[in-house]
Amino acid sequence: MKQSNFVNMKLSLAHALLLLILLVFFDEHHSSPNLNSKNAPSSFVDATSLAASPSPSLSMEFSAASSNFTLNLSPQKKEKKKKKRIEEGLAKSRAAIREAVRWKKYASDNEETFIPRGAVYRNAFAFHQSHIEMEKTFKVWVYREGETPLVHMGPMKDIYSIEGQFVDEIERGMSPFAASHPEKAHVFLLPVSIANVVHYLYQPLVTYSREQLHKVFLDYVNVVAHKYPYWNRSLGADHFFVSCHDWAPDVSGSNPELMKNLIRVLCNANTTEGFNPQRDVSIPEINIPRDHLGPPRLSSSFGHDRPIFAFFAGGSHGYIRRILLQHWKEKDEELQVHEYLANNKDYFKLMAKSRFCLCPSGYEVASPRVVAAINLGCIPVIISDDYALPFSDVLDWSKFTIHVPSKKIPEIKTILKNVSSKRYLVLQKRVLQVQRHFILNRPSQPFDMLRMLLHSVWLRRLNLRLPL
Ligand SMILES: *[C@@H]1O[C@H](CO)[C@@H](O)[C@H](O)[C@H]1NC(C)=O
Ligand SMILES: *[C@@H]1O[C@H](CO)[C@@H](O)[C@H](O)[C@H]1NC(C)=O
Ligand SMILES: *[C@@H]1O[C@H](CO)[C@@H](O)[C@H](O)[C@H]1NC(C)=O
Ligand SMILES: *[C@@H]1O[C@H](CO)[C@@H](O)[C@H](O)[C@H]1NC(C)=O
Repeated sequence: MKQSNFVNMKLSLAHALLLLILLVFFDEHHSSPNLNSKNAPSSFVDATSLAASPSPSLSMEFSAASSNFTLNLSPQKKEKKKKKRIEEGLAKSRAAIREAVRWKKYASDNEETFIPRGAVYRNAFAFHQSHIEMEKTFKVWVYREGETPLVHMGPMKDIYSIEGQFVDEIERGMSPFAASHPEKAHVFLLPVSIANVVHYLYQPLVTYSREQLHKVFLDYVNVVAHKYPYWNRSLGADHFFVSCHDWAPDVSGSNPELMKNLIRVLCNANTTEGFNPQRDVSIPEINIPRDHLGPPRLSSSFGHDRPIFAFFAGGSHGYIRRILLQHWKEKDEELQVHEYLANNKDYFKLMAKSRFCLCPSGYEVASPRVVAAINLGCIPVIISDDYALPFSDVLDWSKFTIHVPSKKIPEIKTILKNVSSKRYLVLQKRVLQVQRHFILNRPSQPFDMLRMLLHSVWLRRLNLRLPL
């Protein structure tokens, strides 16, 4: 393909309607979809950024040696036919979703074991049908370039673990979503682990500079864009990576022009740091202990049988927690805010006994407390500014959580006391309803956390129509 083809390329928004239905949570600033023809990429990245030949960095050599996929320069015609089939399949899925919305019912070849319904969904019918369509057709190609431990693996434990778990699921988990050939794929995964890149390459003893980290990520994109036709075909708009690391937006951000369409699947979904809810995907942070796949799911009481009104324990990380501790640390019997928990106290048991669990942002916007609270049937009180909440295309967080911006921290108790007993019960019921979307299963199961991640990417692909 020649560069001139891209000048006229229109990444048109396939269905504004569908987008409106599924992606309605944007505020005014974000209300115009990102990939419409107006601001669609009108030319490829400025030549200077790609012309520079990719120079693999010291610790990492990208090679196809480990790959079983050999670039088969298939005749243009054959390739076109495959592309056409994919675009036609997507058109069918869009039509099925529109029908489901119009007639308020779903169409599936299989027996549906779970039917999403209720106020927690922005549009339950659209989501359900979209999930059905995804299960039926969605395929992800994982680039084979690169070596472990920076690529093809990531952390499987602790707070960044969704990064490693997702790559592991799709690469080693016999995932039905893994494409057998890139021509059959709807989207392309760059399996770089930013958490591992930081872990292995960042050396504060030598320098605090993140230059090396930027370079590794940029090299990977450059190799992929030069070696295979797929990046150029969509200008990166059907490519994604997954990272839970705080620095992921920075590490992946060294060449904004080249990566302006790349879908960034991030825990650190800070909208003032460039997170774009239409292009990017917000995923939950989940703290995975050594012996489980998530926080404990203690049997917790339903309804009013919870002795603690509101609870938080955690360090003074970041400005929001500082304000919270300043105002509330050990100051109120009912609103329990601790910086440190006594050794004999169990954090999760206390959450399971609380009605409201405070989930303030820490050093970055995301908090693993949100998933823990949901798992424990405690209503998350999300104390954050500029945080694009996970899976917001599908879930209406205002229906099962309480949001408190940092400037209202002094009023938290008033705000929570104002929640009527009836409303509390409704909120708690809904928290239990969304639990399945915040559970990590291996292998992944329909509607669980990894599927929600995948569905968020699928949705962005549905909203993109590639020229044939
Ligand atoms: C390449 O394919 C062979 C046979 O299918 C398989 O045993 C091997 O593990 C593959 N190698 C890689 C790096 O995928
Ligand atoms: C993609 O486009 C860039 C810029 O025009 C070019 O340098 C690169 O070689 C292209 N990649 C492929 C695989 O054709
Ligand atoms: C979000 O990003 C802005 C801009 O970089 C920063 O000032 C703010 O502290 C970030 N939020 C959190 C909770 O870290
Ligand atoms: C108290 O709750 C009512 C409705 O339940 C709401 O309209 C009002 O804004 C709330 N007041 C405060 C201070 O949160």
